[in-house]
Amino acid sequence: MVARMSYYQITVLYLPLLLLLSASATSSAAKLGGTCLVNKNCDTGLHCETCVADGGIRPRCTRIRPSDPKSKGTGLPFNRYSWLTTHNSFALLGQKSRTGTPILTLTNQQDSIAEQLQNGIRGLMLDLYDFRDDIWICHSFGGNCHNFTAFQPAIDVLREIQAFLEANPSEVITIFIEDYVKSIRGLTRIFTAAGLMKYWFPVSRMPKHGGDWPLLGDMIGKNQRLIVFTSKSAKEASEGIAYEWRYVVENQYGDGGMKAGFCPNRAESSPMNTTSRSLVLMNYFPDVPNLAKACKDNSAPLVDMLSTCHNSSSSRWPNFIAVDFYKRSDGGGAPQATDEANGRLTCGCSDIAYCKINGSFGSCPEKANAADAAEKTKSPTSMGHVSPEYRLLWIAALVLALQFGTYSA
Ligand SMILES: *[C@@H]1O[C@H](CO)[C@@H](O)[C@H](O)[C@H]1NC(C)=O
Ligand SMILES: *[C@@H]1O[C@H](CO)[C@@H](O)[C@H](O)[C@H]1NC(C)=O
Ligand SMILES: *[C@@H]1O[C@H](CO)[C@@H](O)[C@H](O)[C@H]1NC(C)=O
Ligand SMILES: *[C@@H]1O[C@H](CO)[C@@H](O)[C@H](O)[C@H]1NC(C)=O
Repeated sequence: MVARMSYYQITVLYLPLLLLLSASATSSAAKLGGTCLVNKNCDTGLHCETCVADGGIRPRCTRIRPSDPKSKGTGLPFNRYSWLTTHNSFALLGQKSRTGTPILTLTNQQDSIAEQLQNGIRGLMLDLYDFRDDIWICHSFGGNCHNFTAFQPAIDVLREIQAFLEANPSEVITIFIEDYVKSIRGLTRIFTAAGLMKYWFPVSRMPKHGGDWPLLGDMIGKNQRLIVFTSKSAKEASEGIAYEWRYVVENQYGDGGMKAGFCPNRAESSPMNTTSRSLVLMNYFPDVPNLAKACKDNSAPLVDMLSTCHNSSSSRWPNFIAVDFYKRSDGGGAPQATDEANGRLTCGCSDIAYCKINGSFGSCPEKANAADAAEKTKSPTSMGHVSPEYRLLWIAALVLALQFGTYSA
């Protein structure tokens, strides 16, 4: 019956089809390293970016989300997992101070704490100060918080964390507080007000002389899913907030922590090889945050530093990997580094992808090592292939264009 189709009919019939095709192609088209124009060209867990600092000119899909180590089981002690951590998690690019004053301080991240948590960030570094009869997230200038260095009241960020813990009952978050709060029980007050005390992991359960933490599954089961460390030792006794340096070793932050082949401890921390501290935190970011260069820092040099710090830390892989601009890299980036640390820690393989669910330590598939070696030799600047889905889309568009031409002629 259909003898001829009008221009209108063709548009009505084919345009949705074309849109559908392009939508399905873009949602599954570009894998890691694939060429892209915008974020939505890339698979989930990836975004589109160009790392000029690393000599790249081709925009490609790069990782923004580590693999969830819990997918391979939760039967290991907490100190046998690694978590991607954001340095100055709160200092967001382009953010305005809630005081109304323009912020005149450095920024280290691109997206909100809620978004960071959605992307698998599980370690947060927060600088807290007494300010305006409250506690604010702030950077110091001369040891004090000012209008032009104050980001926002801490309670707002704690509420974002609370909402995430509430909505995700098997996630565990660790907060590292650079603590300038002098008001009496000030931290307890805001953690309580934010509804976070019910997730509190008690100091009494933290190993004091090295040795293993409780099992991850046990922490989840008991709903003790928030670990909080303070830099003020007295608060452990007075408020039950763990003094970080009793439980964690941490390498030098800033430029001093970015010298290839060296992993010295920061001044407040015991030496990296101190095994009476069960957790290892690796900082890898410069003194002055650098959005343009972060993609390079967060790539091969970050992975190299993992091995360097492993060597310096009594053969322990870091439990926390702290970076600036965690989403920036030339490919796998900080999520890849975290996957490698998790592979080493949980099953002894070079990537968490090679670990079997509830698998025993050291049972790595043979090809894992070969694939790993191949991955390492791949040039980060080489042109990626056009994915089959894109080719399909191209052919579909061509066919439609031809038909369109036939009908409208
Ligand atoms: C800080 O900002 C408030 C307004 O939000 C203003 O009243 C106050 O004077 C400012 N303080 C300084 C030292 O500029
Ligand atoms: C730990 O590292 C220090 C250097 O920071 C070194 O002097 C010491 O011998 C090491 N201790 C152990 C047990 O390896
Ligand atoms: C780790 O230590 C071993 C033995 O001391 C050394 O051969 C290796 O080069 C070191 N690796 C790194 C990355 O520093
Ligand atoms: C892994 O272990 C957990 C806890 O023992 C169990 O619930 C789960 O079914 C196991 N999964 C597999 C695939 O063996």
